[in-house]
Amino acid sequence: MQAKAAGQTEHKSEAQNQNKTTKEVKVKKKEENDGIVDEEAKIEATEEIRMKCKVFFIGAGPGDPELLTIKAVKIIEKADVIIYTGSLVNPDILQYAKSDSQIMNSAKLNLEEILNIMEKSTRKGKLVARVHTGDPSIYGAIGEQIQYLKEKNIIFEIIPGVSSLFATAAALEAELTLPEVSQTVIITRPAGKTPKPEREAIFRLAKHQATMCIFLGVHMIEKVVDELLTYYDLDTPVAVVQKASWPEEKILRGTLNNIAKKVEDSGIEKTAIIVVGDVLGEGQVIPSQLYHKDFTHSYREGQGNKEL
Ligand SMILES: C[S@@+](CC[C@H](N)C(=O)[O-])C[C@H]1O[C@@H](n2cnc3c(N)ncnc32)[C@H](O)[C@@H]1O
Repeated sequence: MQAKAAGQTEHKSEAQNQNKTTKEVKVKKKEENDGIVDEEAKIEATEEIRMKCKVFFIGAGPGDPELLTIKAVKIIEKADVIIYTGSLVNPDILQYAKSDSQIMNSAKLNLEEILNIMEKSTRKGKLVARVHTGDPSIYGAIGEQIQYLKEKNIIFEIIPGVSSLFATAAALEAELTLPEVSQTVIITRPAGKTPKPEREAIFRLAKHQATMCIFLGVHMIEKVVDELLTYYDLDTPVAVVQKASWPEEKILRGTLNNIAKKVEDSGIEKTAIIVVGDVLGEGQVIPSQLYHKDFTHSYREGQGNKEL
């Protein structure tokens, strides 16, 4: 505990140094303007330095580089250090990196090494882009990185990305929340090396018979199907999408009765999402009330007198 407190003091004083540098730039700008206080230049200079000593967690999207956000591209373009999840992030996104940026694949690093790079780089005034696949908040392992940065007073920001879940839904041409079929999407994964609370076991979640999207589970599809069958019917539609939005994207469709065999025959073992639920069925879609011609709501006067 004591060592940690000492470390924190040391980093606080480094953070103070960063503030000092900010002040120095402001003063310099003032001098350049012969004593005329250029407030705009002052703000710009401060912002420039604030941006520099910072870690950005970036959601790189599901694979297609065109699914990067504009904000993500702008930060990748400016980053001095890029640590990207090489096992999942499409390396094509690195085309936006500046020529002298330092690029590292986190698949070859452990957590301590990653944190160390972030800390040392930001202390040197560098802008760090930590690039995760999809959206960083879903199985992105950013929790422990955020905790560390907070402890060390290192500024960070999270730039959301398009989760592979949404690229999967797009590939399936599906609405995951069809009126009167399911209005709930459960995002989960089977227990693996990462422990999972027992109350969230797939067979328990299956009780809702909602739309369920299962990450990190295609390699154990038989077990997943067994658990789902606790409450879903054998003929419930299921799809498996591998590498959604990549050129090599694969889609398998079936039911709980045959999907395990289809997965086995296809050889799909990773980078896939399993979607289960009646929203994938062929049934007639019941339209949402939102666009019903008779309904009036705060944005539109309906033809009838029904109110949402
Ligand atoms: C560690 S999780 C990261 C999820 C990511 N944060 C997201 O929002 O998509 C990795 C898992 O996401 C899923 N995944 C990632 N990219 C995918 C893609 N392009 N298509 C289908 N599934 C994908 C797979 O289940 C894979 O095992």
